[in-house]
Amino acid sequence: MSLKPDKMDLPPRPKLFDFHGISMTHYFTDNWENVQNFQARPDDILVATYPKAGTTWVSYILDLLYFSKTCQERQKTTPIYERVPFLEITVPSLDSGTEMVEKLPTSPRLIKTHLPVQFVPKSFWEQNCRIVYVARNAKDNMVSFFHFERMNYIQPEPGDWSEFYQKFMDGKLVFGSWYDHVNNWWKKKQDYSNLHYMFYEDMIEDTGREIDKLCHFLGLSPSAEEKRMITGDVQFDSMKKDGMANYSTLGIMDFKVSPFMRKGLVGDWKNHFTVAQNEKFDEDYKKKMKDATLQFRTVL
Ligand code: A3P
Repeated sequence: MSLKPDKMDLPPRPKLFDFHGISMTHYFTDNWENVQNFQARPDDILVATYPKAGTTWVSYILDLLYFSKTCQERQKTTPIYERVPFLEITVPSLDSGTEMVEKLPTSPRLIKTHLPVQFVPKSFWEQNCRIVYVARNAKDNMVSFFHFERMNYIQPEPGDWSEFYQKFMDGKLVFGSWYDHVNNWWKKKQDYSNLHYMFYEDMIEDTGREIDKLCHFLGLSPSAEEKRMITGDVQFDSMKKDGMANYSTLGIMDFKVSPFMRKGLVGDWKNHFTVAQNEKFDEDYKKKMKDATLQFRTVL
C-alpha cells in the first residue's frame, strides 16, 4: 500500500498558476506526461467532477456496486482513495495517481478525475470508456470547496470567505472555473454517449432512484436486497463514520479545521452568503450560465 504523507513532510501550500488556460497547482501537473499518455482499458470507469461535487460519494457507490459481493475485505481495509485512485495527483511520498491505477487489481478499474473535459487523456475517448460526471450547484459547491481548502494542506490558501467567494466567481481555483467545468462536460454529452451526467441534489433527494439510473447506465442489475444495503451504506452518516470512506487516514488533511464529511447538505450556502453576495452572485451566474438545458437546484 502507499505511504501516507504527514502534513509535517509537506512543503508550504502550493501556488496557483495558469496551465493551458486553467488554474492549477503542481500537484496536478507534475505527472502530466504520464497522465496524458495514460492507457485506458475499455472497461475502465471514470468518475469526473469539479472538486467537492460528490466525487467520494459516487466513487463509493460504484465501488460497492462492483465489488461489495466479491471483495468484502477491501471495504474494511482499503481507503476509498486507493480503491478509486485520483488519476492526475502526485504528492511526495505517495504513489502518483497513474501508478496507483496501474496497480489496481480490479476489473473494472474505477478512476477519479477532476480534469476539465479538454484535459482528459485521449485513450478514455478512444476506448469508449464509461464516464460518470457528477455536478453540484455552484453555491454549495463553493462553500464545500472553501472549507476543504482550509483543511487540506495541498490546496492553496483559501483566504477568508469573501476572498474565496470572489476567486470562485473568477475561476481562480484549482481545476479552473466551475462554470466552464460543468458546462463543457454537459456539452460533451452531445457527441459522447457513454457519459452519465448526475446531480448531487438528485442524489440527496432520492439516492435509490439515482443508483437505479446509474445501474441502468452501467448495465448492472443488483438484487433488491443489494440495492437496499448499498443505499443504506452510502448515507452521509454512515460514510462519515466509515474510516475507509471519510479520509481520516490521510495526513494531508486537518479534521480539527473541518472534517472531510462536513455537512452533506443542499442549501448550506445560506449560512455563508450575505444578501449582497447572493445578489451579486446571481447576476453574474446569469451571464455565465446561458445554456437553459443545464439547470441546478440550490434548494430542495
Ligand atoms: P460538504 O462539504 O458540503 O459537506 P467530494 O467527494 O467531491 O470532495 O465532495 C465532498 C462533499 O460531498 C462534501 O460536502 C461531503 O460532505 C459530501 N458528501 C460525501 N459523501 C456524502 C454522502 N454520502 N451524502 C451526502 N454528501 C456527501
